[in-house]
Amino acid sequence: MNRRYFVLGTAAAVRPIFAQASSEKVATAMIGVGNRGAYLLKAVMNQPDTRVVALCDNKPDRLDKAATVAAKDNPSTTTEWRKIIDNKDVEAVYIATPPYLHAEMAVAALKAGKHVYCEKPIGTTPSEIRDLVKAARASNKVFVAGQQMRTMIQLGTAIKKINEGAIGDILFVKAQRHATRDLPYDGSSGDWYYDFKKSGGYLVEQSVHNLDACNWAIGQHPIRCAGFGGINLHKNEPQGRDIYDHQSLTYEYANGAKLSFTQMVFHPRGMPVNNQTIAVFGSKGAVDLLYSTNFYPLDGTTQSVLAEKVEEKNDAHIRAFFDCVRHGAKSPADVVIGAQAALTAIMGNEACRQGKVIEWKDFGVDV
Ligand SMILES: NC(=O)c1ccc[n+]([C@@H]2O[C@H](COP(=O)([O-])OP(=O)(O)OC[C@H]3O[C@@H](n4cnc5c(N)ncnc54)[C@H](O)[C@@H]3O)[C@@H](O)[C@H]2O)c1
Repeated sequence: MNRRYFVLGTAAAVRPIFAQASSEKVATAMIGVGNRGAYLLKAVMNQPDTRVVALCDNKPDRLDKAATVAAKDNPSTTTEWRKIIDNKDVEAVYIATPPYLHAEMAVAALKAGKHVYCEKPIGTTPSEIRDLVKAARASNKVFVAGQQMRTMIQLGTAIKKINEGAIGDILFVKAQRHATRDLPYDGSSGDWYYDFKKSGGYLVEQSVHNLDACNWAIGQHPIRCAGFGGINLHKNEPQGRDIYDHQSLTYEYANGAKLSFTQMVFHPRGMPVNNQTIAVFGSKGAVDLLYSTNFYPLDGTTQSVLAEKVEEKNDAHIRAFFDCVRHGAKSPADVVIGAQAALTAIMGNEACRQGKVIEWKDFGVDV
């Protein structure tokens, strides 16, 4: 059971809504059915209260494959995403195109009165994000960013306790997202990846999840960032590459907490320190947030666990989106969460690229 269900509860009060709406299915379209989009499509098809009415991808082979997967719903297909926006039958849209297209597509969909599930990062520049925040606030439709760590039950339970003071004041966070290797160079998927303007690099495209979890645990977004990055191993691999293969960043938060974050793609398998970690240090002790949620008291007393391990559902975030659409549940990753996560990552890139301390307030995005 995901956290959203728990908040809604299983009380009789929600049942009539279920019963009332059970005959209608949310008419859903998918824009981008590549690697992630194909996964999302399968998960959407598995929801009992949706039907896939339209598919879009500008690669015809992917479109065909997706149409086969969705055959039972007999969706229309198009290579032009604006046709999805203009399609009056479409109530909800999943956007899983490369990052640089997200904001433009999401703004258009919201303005056309559609509910939007937009993959992370929700934008790659402050101005795209500013436009999207404005459109989402002006709309009465659901917006869910694909920051699916927000629907992980164990993590959410541990962070709630941290936010309530279980480890005292938050003093420092040490986190990393390291990979054992670069993504493939064959362009089979993510052929946009090594182009900084299209992906934002590893930090914006992938670490946006980890940075979001850090912000969530600290309970706010950072106010400034300094850092360094570069290409030390994969110089000109693939040819023309302009994204970093490593970065080392320090963020400062308004409450005085610091986040030390590193990202790299040459962390050998089997190294004693896990490739992804988030350690949160508070005035009462520290938590290994990403795996065990073990709490290690500063006074040396016995360690305890903040949140028990539970069986997490792979489709929890997708289910949560339809609970918002069907039952008015609160978005687990609304536009503010998506914007703060993306801007935190963008801030890290700008600090490295401009070689100076970057201030959040200079982004001019009100989140
Ligand atoms: N939430 C997660 O955990 C998660 C995991 C993987 C990927 N993602 C995100 O999903 C997005 C897609 O990543 P991917 O790995 O699936 O990439 P991909 O390249 O496999 O898929 C993107 C698809 O979009 C299509 N596309 C590109 N431009 C288009 C356009 N103008 N109109 C219509 N279709 C267009 C491409 O043809 C491709 O099929 C990225 O933003 C990525 O960050 C999220």
